Amino acid sequence: MNLVLFGPPGVGKGTQGMRLAEEFSLAHLATGDILRAAVRDGTEYGKQAKAFMDGGKLVPDDIVVGMIEERIVDAGQGFLLDGFPRTVAQAKALESMLGRHGMHIDRVVFMHAPEQALIERLSGRLICRACGFSFHRQYSPPRVAGRCDRCGGELYQRDDDREDVIAERLKVYRAQTEPLLAYYQSAAGFRQVDAAGEMQDVYTALKQAVEG
Ligand code: AP5
Repeated sequence: MNLVLFGPPGVGKGTQGMRLAEEFSLAHLATGDILRAAVRDGTEYGKQAKAFMDGGKLVPDDIVVGMIEERIVDAGQGFLLDGFPRTVAQAKALESMLGRHGMHIDRVVFMHAPEQALIERLSGRLICRACGFSFHRQYSPPRVAGRCDRCGGELYQRDDDREDVIAERLKVYRAQTEPLLAYYQSAAGFRQVDAAGEMQDVYTALKQAVEG
């Protein structure tokens, strides 16, 4: 099975995507994580992407498309795309790369929540440096302050989870990613999930959307 999860920053794509990918044995391909690893490792892609990410802007389509194709092709058992596509141009590039490899998308799931909830989620988020698992200071705090429950890794706040960058990311989302809704809405595998509720309720709704 091949899935796309899309929605605004902070809606829960990473948190829920990680869990869905584990449950359905899919490769979790999160372009934000891939790009942050490229920045950390100082690769050519990472050097080009850093300034865009720090400012809350989208990384240019050609960089992101170039990074994702080989991972999609290598994901033999199926994949879950989290954060890609993020523009209509990326959606078209995805379609043509899947066509070239005889693959297709089974479900495109749009997650949505009110903007105030997104801001609260992003500003309280903590991430494990070692395994990438997300916590929230208020909604899902770690058992030991500053340490990951899963692997004991150090928790940190992302540079782009500052108030001014969050505002820019939401603006960019509305201008560049929201048009994807019209692009995908009439497709057979399109599903919409209200992600404003508790994490477990959102997960149950997502599972139904994927299986139904
Ligand atoms: P990326 O890392 O993809 O960031 P994003 O899309 O802005 O999404 P987030 O990771 O911020 O949020 P999320 O929806 O995953 O929420 P999460 O589950 O963590 O991209 C970062 C940057 O990389 C972009 O700005 C861009 O520069 C670049 N980039 C990436 N992909 C690109 C592409 N395709 N093209 C161009 N550029 C690209 O949850 C957030 C918090 O809320 C967590 O603390 C979590 O614990 C909590 N939470 C989750 N669900 C709930 C709930 N139901 N109730 C309460 N709290 C909750």
